[in-house]
Amino acid sequence: MEKHFAIINRIDTIDTEKTQEIIRTAGDIIRNGGTVIFPTETVYGLGANALDSEASKKIYKAKGRPSDNPLIVHISNLDMLNQVAKGISEHAKVLIKKFWAGPLTMIFYKKEIVPSETTGGLETVAVRMPSNLIARNIIEYAGVPIAAPSANISGRPSITTGEYAVEEMSERVDMIILSDDSEIGIESTVVDMTTELPVVLRPGKISQSDIIRAISKDDEDFFKKLEQLELLIDSKNEKAVETKSPGMKYRHYSPDAKVFLLKKDEIVRRLEQLKKTNEKLKENVDKPQNHLCKRELSEGCFKDFIQTELESAKKSQIRVLTKEQNKKFYGEYSVSLGKNADEIAKNMFRLLRKMDEEKVKIIFFEDFNDGSEFISAVMNRIRKAAENID
Ligand code: TXA
Ligand code: MG
Repeated sequence: MEKHFAIINRIDTIDTEKTQEIIRTAGDIIRNGGTVIFPTETVYGLGANALDSEASKKIYKAKGRPSDNPLIVHISNLDMLNQVAKGISEHAKVLIKKFWAGPLTMIFYKKEIVPSETTGGLETVAVRMPSNLIARNIIEYAGVPIAAPSANISGRPSITTGEYAVEEMSERVDMIILSDDSEIGIESTVVDMTTELPVVLRPGKISQSDIIRAISKDDEDFFKKLEQLELLIDSKNEKAVETKSPGMKYRHYSPDAKVFLLKKDEIVRRLEQLKKTNEKLKENVDKPQNHLCKRELSEGCFKDFIQTELESAKKSQIRVLTKEQNKKFYGEYSVSLGKNADEIAKNMFRLLRKMDEEKVKIIFFEDFNDGSEFISAVMNRIRKAAENID
């Protein structure tokens, strides 16, 4: 097949003539059924005309994404919302006013005009108005809503740095627009607005408490209704969320390295164990067993894994990703994700990809969940990177 390379442009400031020209080119490509990778405040998106079934299919093909995993439709004004969605509740209106433009995706019933290719066959549609001005200008200029999943190959970590989009996707799309690293660094909060009370399907920067607070300011009965709500949030009811949000059941965010999400003491213990094994292996290098098991998270498996794959385990093949304050516990293995939740979210996907560049084989990601909702949203991603769903 003929090789096809994307047009690649960088945008630094929004209001120059050159920028407007790049945005016009991107808008034209989208309107004509092509694909464009562009920055948003959460992660980079891979966009195409949401109203064109052939264009949507190109997204699935470029990402290698299963066709039952629906896309988020990005809009730049409320007319576009009314074009694609119906039955917009009073609660939804409150959330729109409070959180749009921004990192909140809402699920509504879809209108006929949205092809089932865009919604993975569902009768509902996910909609978000990004705050990133490059993204909004492209949508506005294209004049059509843009379906855009995260710009990574399906199953890989999301892309938050333009250069990684070029590296991974330049032969798979028509255009790539580079800009600053994504400001937030994890994908938008997804909330289902088709049920009587909103249900968070994917946690993100806008937390469940933010949503509850916004709605109850406007609706005094909301708290009373909340008490009856069973499906309160993702982690408590993962099975229900998987049924509702097809994307959540797939393996996600995985770098080449095996990822283990563990508490501090367990990481320290395993590093010790590793050192011992390493010394033993040095004494007795022969006979590694040829056994690779599927459940990496079990300890037995972990032992097998290090004995087979890491015959000569070197420091360079293992990293501990942790917060700045805890680096001291892991010595030379430590890589700092940042000091606070905002920095950690912003750096996480970029660092997972950097580990691949450095050919790291094992990542211990410290589970430093402190109960804050944003850190749990980060850990939600890592839990998925660590799972191996066949
Ligand atoms: O921040 C973001 O949301 C980024 C940027 C590019 O905007 N996009 C993004 O898209 O993360 P994607 O495709 O990687 O994730 C979309 C998620 C999936 O978990 C999918 O299952 C869910 O949204 N989703 C989409 N449409 C849905 C629907 N109609 N019902 C339930 N879940 C839906
Ligand atoms: Mg994604």
